[in-house]
Amino acid sequence: MKYIIANWKANKNIKETKEWLNSFLTNDFSKISKKKEIIICPPFPFLIFLKEKVKNYPFIKIGAQDLSVFEEGTYTGEVTGKTLAGLVDYVIIGHSERRKYFNETKEILFKKATLAKKNQIEPLFCIRKKADPFPSEIKFVVLEPPSAISQGTGFGANQPLKKVLMIKKELKINKDIKFIYGGSVNEINASLYLKNDEIDGVMIGGASLDPKRFFKIVKSL
Ligand code: PGA
Repeated sequence: MKYIIANWKANKNIKETKEWLNSFLTNDFSKISKKKEIIICPPFPFLIFLKEKVKNYPFIKIGAQDLSVFEEGTYTGEVTGKTLAGLVDYVIIGHSERRKYFNETKEILFKKATLAKKNQIEPLFCIRKKADPFPSEIKFVVLEPPSAISQGTGFGANQPLKKVLMIKKELKINKDIKFIYGGSVNEINASLYLKNDEIDGVMIGGASLDPKRFFKIVKSL
């Protein structure tokens, strides 16, 4: 199975979300390999809407971009694992942008992963480099070197596949863990990552915001 993950980050309003879906869902998915799973991670307010819209597309799953470090209670504005339970299949945890702008530490990230698991949500646990620890019970490790993120179109030559594979080797992750790569993946370079047996999928930021570009990535391979 190959996982194609759209991380919309802090982009789109409801009108743009509807337009994106209207465009994306009109594609012909019949020729897409049954061995691909698409995971869309929009901002929180659009989760329920997306979930409704893709309910007849079993190969499309929904993910949140974060969850609270608190379990539940008097934490105004927080979105907890308990709130997300049953709504999403996945949650992104440990993205470098959360580490950088929201000071999320290893302790916070590990607690979030535990709370996700407790609510039957699978963490897509991001690391920046091989030295970043990840909880042993997770099923997905997403390698996203900050220097490779948002580098625009083109091949993303600052993060050659060889280096990605070398980091994977050094991580010594067990065979049951899915290894995802993210960082300027686009319609030009996606197939290179996806066709490699050592890489189980890609996480896409910028290029996932355009439904046409995203579908080209889904189709690639
Ligand atoms: P990018 O973002 O594809 O825009 O580089 C990837 C990510 O940060 O998840």
